[in-house]
Amino acid sequence: MPEIVPCKGPLGGRIEGLDRCRAQETEIAALLNRALAEYLLVVVPGERMMPHETLAFAEAFGQPRTQLLRYKRSGEVPEVSIMVSTLMADGSTDKTAIRAEDWHTDDSYFAKPAKATLLHGIEIPSRGGATWFCNMHSVYEALPGTLRTRLDGMRAIHGYDTPRARNRPSPRTAQEIAETPDVEHPLVRTHPDTGRKALYLNPNRLDRIVGLERAESDALLDALAEEARKPEHHFGHVWKPGDIAIWDNRATMHRVVIDYPVSEPRIMQRVLIEGDRPF
Ligand SMILES: [Fe+2]
Repeated sequence: MPEIVPCKGPLGGRIEGLDRCRAQETEIAALLNRALAEYLLVVVPGERMMPHETLAFAEAFGQPRTQLLRYKRSGEVPEVSIMVSTLMADGSTDKTAIRAEDWHTDDSYFAKPAKATLLHGIEIPSRGGATWFCNMHSVYEALPGTLRTRLDGMRAIHGYDTPRARNRPSPRTAQEIAETPDVEHPLVRTHPDTGRKALYLNPNRLDRIVGLERAESDALLDALAEEARKPEHHFGHVWKPGDIAIWDNRATMHRVVIDYPVSEPRIMQRVLIEGDRPF
C-alpha cells in the first residue's frame, strides 16, 4: 500500500509509492480521501499526465465538474482546465493568477463550492512559484474562545465580486453572471468527514456578515483574515514537473507567489471536485 508522509508544517501529506493508475481502486481511493480529510493537502509526485489521465485520477476524490469561465475549459477534456500563469516581461500574467496571489478558497461564490481542487504541474519555472496553503481548522482554533462562540452560527454573503476584493475578477458572460448570484454560507463550517470546525473565509469573495452593520462586518472580517495571515498556519509546496497537489477547500485557503523568472513557462492542469452545501 502507498504511504502517507506528513509534510513539515501545519498541513500537508505526501503520498509515496502510489501507482496513480490504481487511484480509483476502493482501498486506494479510501486512503487518498482519508489523507485529504486529515492532512487537507495531498501531494503525489510522479510523471506528467495527459488531461484524460488527470481526470481519471481526480475521480478518486469525487465527481469532477467544469469551471464557471467557459474560456478556461480546454477543448479536449472540459473538466480539465489548462491554467497558464507564465510571467511576462511587462510584469503581467494571466488575470486569474494575479488574483490567486491573495489568500482564497476556490468557488465560494457557488451554493455548493468545490470540495477539493487538484493541480497538476506540467511546465514549472526553474525557481519560485510555490503554492501556499493555510489550515483553517488551526486558524479557527487559534481564536479566543469568546470570539469562536460569537462566530458559531454567523452567516456571511459571498459574491463573485465585492468592493472588499483587492483585485477585480475576470469578466463573465451574461450566462456566467446568471449562474453566480450572491450566496450565503456559514462563517464557521464543519468538515463532513472529521467533524472539525474551520473558519470559512475568502477575502476576495466575502462581502459581509449577515445582520451586522457594514463597518462592524468589515472590522470583524479584517480581524479574522489577520489571524489567517499568521505563518504558523501555513505550508508552502514547491513544485516539480509532474507533481499533483489536491487540497480540501472546506478547511483551507491557498495562494500562489509570483516570484518566478520572466518568460519561463508555468502551466498547470486543474480539476475541481464537486462539493456539498457548507454547514
Ligand atoms: Fe485557487
